[in-house]
Order: sequence, then C-alpha cells, then structure tokens
Amino acid sequence: MKLQDKVAIVTGSGRGLGRSIALLFGKEGANVVLAAHNRDQIEHVAQELKVLRKNAIAVQADVSDETQVNVLIQKTLEAYGTIDILVNNAGFRGPIAPTHKISLTEWEETLRVNLTTAFLCSKAVIPTMIEKKSGKIINIATTLTPRPNMTPYMVSKAGMNSLAKQLSRELKEFNIQVNAIHPGVMDTRMQEDIRKAGAKAIGTDMFDRLKEEGLLHSPDEPAKLVLFLASKTGDGITGEFLSFDDKEVKFLLSQG
Ligand SMILES: NC(=O)c1ccc[n+]([C@@H]2O[C@H](COP(=O)([O-])OP(=O)(O)OC[C@H]3O[C@@H](n4cnc5c(N)ncnc54)[C@H](OP(=O)(O)O)[C@@H]3O)[C@@H](O)[C@H]2O)c1
Repeated sequence: MKLQDKVAIVTGSGRGLGRSIALLFGKEGANVVLAAHNRDQIEHVAQELKVLRKNAIAVQADVSDETQVNVLIQKTLEAYGTIDILVNNAGFRGPIAPTHKISLTEWEETLRVNLTTAFLCSKAVIPTMIEKKSGKIINIATTLTPRPNMTPYMVSKAGMNSLAKQLSRELKEFNIQVNAIHPGVMDTRMQEDIRKAGAKAIGTDMFDRLKEEGLLHSPDEPAKLVLFLASKTGDGITGEFLSFDDKEVKFLLSQG
C-alpha cells in the first residue's frame, strides 16, 4: 500500500474531490482526517472508510478560521500522533460576474475560503513536518487558462500555485515537498454551482456542453494524481504545478 500508516489531513473532504482523495488515501493505508463544515458529509465519508476497516476521523471545521484550524491539528495529533500529508482542497466558486461588479466582501470571502485556508492549514502543520524532517503538502488549484467573470476564484487559485512554490523553497531543506495541481473539470457540486450561474454570466457554454456530452470526469481520476504526489512516487517533486489534463501527467499516472 502506498500510504501505509501515514497521517493525512484532507480539507473539504465531505464530497467531490476531497471525498475521492480521502477514500483513495484510506484504501492505500493512510489514517485520514476529514475536515469540512458539513458534519453529516464528513461523518458519512469516515463511515465509508470504517466499513473498509480503514482509520478515519471527521473533524467539523471552517478551515478559514485559525482557531478551528488549530483545533483540527490538535485533534489529529491526539488521534494519530503526527501529520505526514496535508491536502489543501477546500474551496468554492466565488461570485460569477464582471470584476467591476464584485463587492469587496465577495472578493475577500473568495480569497479567504480558497487561499487563506491553505495558508492557515500549512502554517499549522509545518512545525510537525519540520520536526520529523518529512512531509507533503498538495494544493488544489485550477487551470492556468483565464476564466473571465470568475476573477476572485482564478486569482485565489493562482495564489495556491504561488503558495506552493514559495513553501517548496522554504521547506526544501526539511524534506517537505509542496506542489499544486489542476484536477481538470470534474462532475462535482462546484461544477453544478458554476453551471447554475448560466452560460451568459460565465461567458461560455463550455461547461453545459461538457456535461451534456458526458465529458466531465469523476473526481476519482485526479485523486490519483494527488496520491502520486503524496506517496513515494512523488518524492523529489516539489514546487511544481501538475495538470490532470496534461497528457504526460496521465502517462505518469498510468505507470502506477
Ligand atoms: N469541480 C471542478 O471542476 C474543479 C476544477 C478545478 C479546481 N477545482 C477545485 O477542487 C477543489 C474541490 O472542488 P469540488 O469540485 O470537489 O467542490 P465541492 O464538491 O463543492 O467540495 C468542496 C468542499 O470544500 C468544503 N469547504 C468549502 N469551504 C470550506 C471551509 N471554509 N472550511 C472547510 N471546508 C470547506 C466543502 O464542504 P462544506 O461546504 O461542508 O464546508 C466541500 O466539502 C476546490 O478547491 C476547487 O476549487 C474544482
């Protein structure tokens, strides 16, 4: 198993990509810590893992709140004694509108939920990882292709790339690898929320067409890329941005 006895925190793991990552990590032997607002959803995922005789705990937390992040870390350490992997996955789409029509409140909320969460969770796990001279942090970003009318979301996700690069340099000497990924366009609640805004607001009917043509992929697929980076196969890769849509990345994953 690729993550035997590793301790992994996955934020936003009640549904969508976070759930897929948590289930895959658990199947690969990790002790998984699930965090999100929605208690029922994370407890359901923890139950799915327990049915498979895998270890998991669900910690209800808003990971944009430093106090709640610290409680999450404390509960992880109480349950499993260490932290090996952090996946900064929690996020939401933010407002869909031209930038000049977005309020400061919407802007700040989007950056807080999509980027400050990763800063807070990374800040909280780094001391443990430095002490053990090992660790993996994976930030879930998005495409590098500009998406008009989604500026706060796209800027926050560019920040996730930059944060990964910054941390990779700072933490290299401690054998901590930090990377960011684009998971591709997945069939999840967030995608549904984006389509609900309407093709006119988004400025493209691409997402409706991808859905109609069955071309949105399951989050189980990019979860394999996160596993690749979190496990030994990803050792030595740091400060990179890997896109699930990249053919070479798909080839790497096909090698097992
Ligand atoms: N779907 C796509 O096509 C796509 C494409 C590129 C990138 N991504 C990225 O992939 C990641 C997962 O997206 P998804 O499509 O799986 O979305 P999703 O189904 O909406 O899941 C998002 C998860 O984040 C949690 N969350 C949001 N704010 C949180 C907070 N403050 N504290 C704790 N948990 C929080 C949500 O749970 P609660 O509401 O219960 O907190 C939920 O579990 C996101 O970072 C997203 O930006 C998605």
